[in-house]
Amino acid sequence: MKFRLHTYGCQMNVRDSDAVAAMLTAAGHQQSVTEDEADFIIVNSCSVREKAEDKAMGKLGLLCKTKRERPERKVALMGCMAQRMGKDIFKKIPLLDFTVGTRRCGTIPQLVQRVLDGETNIIEISKSEATPDVPDSHNETGYAAFVTILLGCNRRCAYCIVPDVRGPEFSRPAKEILTEITALTKHGIREVTLLGQSVMNYGLMNSVWDEHDSPSPGGYTEAFSRLLEAVATIPEIQRIRFTSSHPSGCTEEMVRAMNTLPKVCHHLHLAVQSGSNRILKLMRRGYTREEYLDAITRLRAAMPDFSLTSDIIVGFPGETEQDFEETRSLMEQAQFDNAFIFKYSTRPGTPAAEMNDDVSKDEKMRRNQVLLADLDIQGQKKNEALIGSIQEILVDGPSLRNAERWAGRTPGNKIAVFTPREGLTPGTLVKVRIIKAAPQTLYGEIV
Ligand code: SAH
Ligand code: SF4
Ligand code: F3S
Repeated sequence: MKFRLHTYGCQMNVRDSDAVAAMLTAAGHQQSVTEDEADFIIVNSCSVREKAEDKAMGKLGLLCKTKRERPERKVALMGCMAQRMGKDIFKKIPLLDFTVGTRRCGTIPQLVQRVLDGETNIIEISKSEATPDVPDSHNETGYAAFVTILLGCNRRCAYCIVPDVRGPEFSRPAKEILTEITALTKHGIREVTLLGQSVMNYGLMNSVWDEHDSPSPGGYTEAFSRLLEAVATIPEIQRIRFTSSHPSGCTEEMVRAMNTLPKVCHHLHLAVQSGSNRILKLMRRGYTREEYLDAITRLRAAMPDFSLTSDIIVGFPGETEQDFEETRSLMEQAQFDNAFIFKYSTRPGTPAAEMNDDVSKDEKMRRNQVLLADLDIQGQKKNEALIGSIQEILVDGPSLRNAERWAGRTPGNKIAVFTPREGLTPGTLVKVRIIKAAPQTLYGEIV
């Protein structure tokens, strides 16, 4: 049968979809190029904001409609919305063939078979206390791969649905991760991004190294730094990234690991969410504005070329003009290389859902626009400062806009566009001198 995955949400979902595609291919099915020719469509959903759920719900509705003309076609749901809604999804989408929770991805090949054998409306929802199945199959083409190292989240920020839909933290054994990455290198992977919601909490809740593992050559005692060091010993791996981070994870040892292991990129995605201490407290983020700024000061002191991206929520319940201005001033102080700005969206069952969502839609939109304009100016300034510098680029291939130019990424995760030279192949490192800058892109020449 021909299958197709439709993925919404974050890198975790991208990674899960990739694993599912690999498992289905191994089971003898074929990934279809177009949706039209697919016999089996699986929607991988996100619940983080209402809009994300609306998109997946709309897609499912449309797909199930096509079942009228194509009754043999199968439609299924996986991911965070599947986990959140449980069997209620069948009330909204009665023709759904199966729905599977976030920690049961590994069962999908069997569920697909059961549906092909005639069953429908199957539900397989993860129980948070059960050990999750973590598929290690990959389907990646290209040279970069995501590897989930920490599942779930224990933080419970007031606005966030992720702990409900992804369950409590579970760290995968280090050996399993290293085996997975080594296997990936045999398929040409040269860059890995280690994934977790608070990725530096790796190994805090369950042990990941056993007593037979040799001690860390660099003297690292924290599980996450030790893992970075171990991944760096895999010869084919050229670059290591990780996301998402939290200021509490920026320990002295982690900063040392980032700074001394040459393969670890000097980039962090460190979500701040707000610049107002009052709002940060209501959000239950577990740090103050000062602590956040202190963490980035330490990172920049150790790594002058350090690049910083972030997430910000505008219009959290009770956010006043004064609070918003504090976020603007924090942005000015922090000098982000880039950031995602989100309009607050109430998520059912979260602590913030009990608060009054009192910032109007228009005002959220206005605050969103103001921050985007600020960011553009900041991004331009930060990128202009790189003009004349020589950046090491991991080559992606032809640029999307103009195939005569090629693109790749700097260690800071910025896109750089340049003229290729003969014989250049994706997945290799080249040195590029930056000659021009736009807020989101650098332009240069190979040196
Ligand atoms: N674990 C990551 C965040 C994962 S969710 C971290 O803490 O950095 C990605 C982003 O979505 C969050 O950083 C936040 O900015 C945004 N987000 C989460 N819940 C939201 C909500 N209810 N409304 C708007 N944005 C939200
Ligand atoms: Fe959500 Fe906070 Fe966990 Fe990130 S750290 S996933 S924002 S609860
Ligand atoms: Fe969305 Fe789930 Fe990721 S809610 S942001 S897909 S963890």
